Amino acid sequence: MITLFCKNTILAKTAAFALLALFNCSVMAQQKQFSPGQLWPDDKGVHINAHGGGLLYQKGTYYWFGEHKIAGGAGNRAMVGVHCYSSKDLYNWKDQGIALAVSTDTTSDIAKGCILERPKVVYNKKTKKYVMWFHLELLGQSYKAARAGVATSDKVTGPYTFIRSYRPNAGFMPYYPPGTPDADTVNCAQPKNKSEGFFCRDVPGGQMARDMNVFVDDDGKAYHIFSAEENFTLDVAELNDTYTGHTGKFARVYAGHQTEAPAIFKHNGIYYLIGSGTTGWAPNPARWFTAKSIYGLWTYHGNPCKGKGAEITFGGQSTYILPVAGKKDAFIFMADKWTPKNAIDGRYLWLPITFKGDDMEISWFDNWDLKVFDKEK
Ligand code: DGJ
Repeated sequence: MITLFCKNTILAKTAAFALLALFNCSVMAQQKQFSPGQLWPDDKGVHINAHGGGLLYQKGTYYWFGEHKIAGGAGNRAMVGVHCYSSKDLYNWKDQGIALAVSTDTTSDIAKGCILERPKVVYNKKTKKYVMWFHLELLGQSYKAARAGVATSDKVTGPYTFIRSYRPNAGFMPYYPPGTPDADTVNCAQPKNKSEGFFCRDVPGGQMARDMNVFVDDDGKAYHIFSAEENFTLDVAELNDTYTGHTGKFARVYAGHQTEAPAIFKHNGIYYLIGSGTTGWAPNPARWFTAKSIYGLWTYHGNPCKGKGAEITFGGQSTYILPVAGKKDAFIFMADKWTPKNAIDGRYLWLPITFKGDDMEISWFDNWDLKVFDKEK
């Protein structure tokens, strides 16, 4: 009622929250659209707490996993774990609780207060397990460790059991897709630049792994895409059959340029990769790439965002690209609008991707719904 009366403005949402809290009421008005950057109440009327997230679609239900943040600057560290929500329509989300909890054991890799970012969950059909990957920084070491962490569960909503964390592909050299220019092959005897120097330094212990995503291809093979070499390169790395480890096969993408926040999808047989620059929590222009093979060669296309705010990705940073189930050519660009001074208040920017042939664009909408994909055909 209130939502209708106030025309669904932020005021309405705030008023609705206050009323619900007052009457300890858990029934939320059904939401029928996306409102990027606004508070997004879950089924209990609480702003969704799943930052740097990723989605998994299973049998008619979407599951959203993300970093659970707490209030204040402390929320930039993992004090709780990975939060899970479920939805049938993408607008209304049910709180499913904490899927992976941080540990109270201070010697654990995932000790409370560590940095655990950008969790992504995929389902392995062979093992029938849900596999969660995330970027992990060990307690008290800021962003030095640069590890990938993995946890599994028999149930999509968890609880997930932490398995291990490490730097991937120790001892392996990159795979070079056909056509790789000689200048782009690594020469550890005489590194050509900083990025290659970092790569060679890290061969024995494994490559640094920070911002990341996981992608399962049509043939069931899974890939871990992460910022490596002090963020100077993105690695596209093959995961093993159980999705819980790396095989040693990986390609270096856009080497020498600092890229974070990789998000990947496939459309009409072409792989699309969106990332950002590296400016901490502050927004910067997004960048996109395409390739015919997941290992490349990847072509750089500049900024996919158009219109006012495009130069700062509308205030956000990419985190995931969601293919909408049952709709053709329908992909949602998901980004985080970080609020590091009060981490829990971070907002979600979900925007539709528009295709022009094989080109893609992302434009701002104050409000929109999934019908936008029907109109475009
Ligand atoms: C940008 C990254 O994309 C985030 O995930 C986070 O690591 C911040 N940097 C920290 O400054």
